[in-house]
Amino acid sequence: MTNRVLEITNLNKSFGAIHATQDLSLTLNTGEIHALIGPNGAGKSTLIQQVTGYLQPDSGDIQFLGQSINHLSPAHRAKLGLAQTFQVSSLIMEYSCLQNVVLVVQARLGSSYRFFAPIKNDALLQQEAMTYLQEVELDKRCHIAASALSHGERRQLEIAMALALEPKVFLLDEPMAGMDPAGVKKLIERLKKMCRKAPILLVEHDMPAVFALATRITVLDYGRVIATGDVESIRNNPEVQTAYLGVAP
Ligand SMILES: Nc1ncnc2c1ncn2[C@@H]1O[C@H](COP(=O)(O)OP(=O)(O)O)[C@@H](O)[C@H]1O
Ligand SMILES: [Mg+2]
Repeated sequence: MTNRVLEITNLNKSFGAIHATQDLSLTLNTGEIHALIGPNGAGKSTLIQQVTGYLQPDSGDIQFLGQSINHLSPAHRAKLGLAQTFQVSSLIMEYSCLQNVVLVVQARLGSSYRFFAPIKNDALLQQEAMTYLQEVELDKRCHIAASALSHGERRQLEIAMALALEPKVFLLDEPMAGMDPAGVKKLIERLKKMCRKAPILLVEHDMPAVFALATRITVLDYGRVIATGDVESIRNNPEVQTAYLGVAP
């Protein structure tokens, strides 16, 4: 069995004169946290959106578990287990934590859960949703509306929702953004556990977090890969140091 989950080959995407993705190739393997770093505008989010299908590449190929997915809609990709997680916008503020997670479980199960009688149905959905809330230690707050949660708790709820999707890949675009140091520390530990369930493609600006987590790092600049390797090789790469880490040549 191959351990290659994602394989991106010679991807290109332009917006008018801007080459947001240039001949980009990248792989993601089972158990791995592959960090994608680079200055603002380097093309990190554009890449994630081509993987989820919200943007169509001009050329190149994206394979997921050995199959080309270029022609698949975002909904179809999500169903296969390839969806972006950790988006604040995905929370419904007036719903309780439990209801938010139930919605994700329900969406993942599609029509299959309708096999049961409605009451049993709800109980099963809630039971399953509670297991994800327990994982992030929000189970005691399950009936609190998302709007009444602290910022940190909202991020925990997003994690519960990401876990509830049971994706085959975690696609994370700056999950540490806006977090205090204690929150970052917690999330680092969480991501270390999550990568055992599914590999993580991690776009992140917090360099200490990236260095603490990444199995491999790819550095983008103007849509191009300028370096890829393990933490040590990226830290010591002179081109990366000048282009991104702010070290004088
Ligand atoms: N929908 C769009 N239309 C036009 N230009 C875009 C669009 N999305 C991104 N860009 C441009 O593509 C480049 C890469 O953007 P982005 O992927 O958001 O970078 P990053 O996430 O690394 O900060 C930037 O120059 C940005 O202005
Ligand atoms: Mg971005």
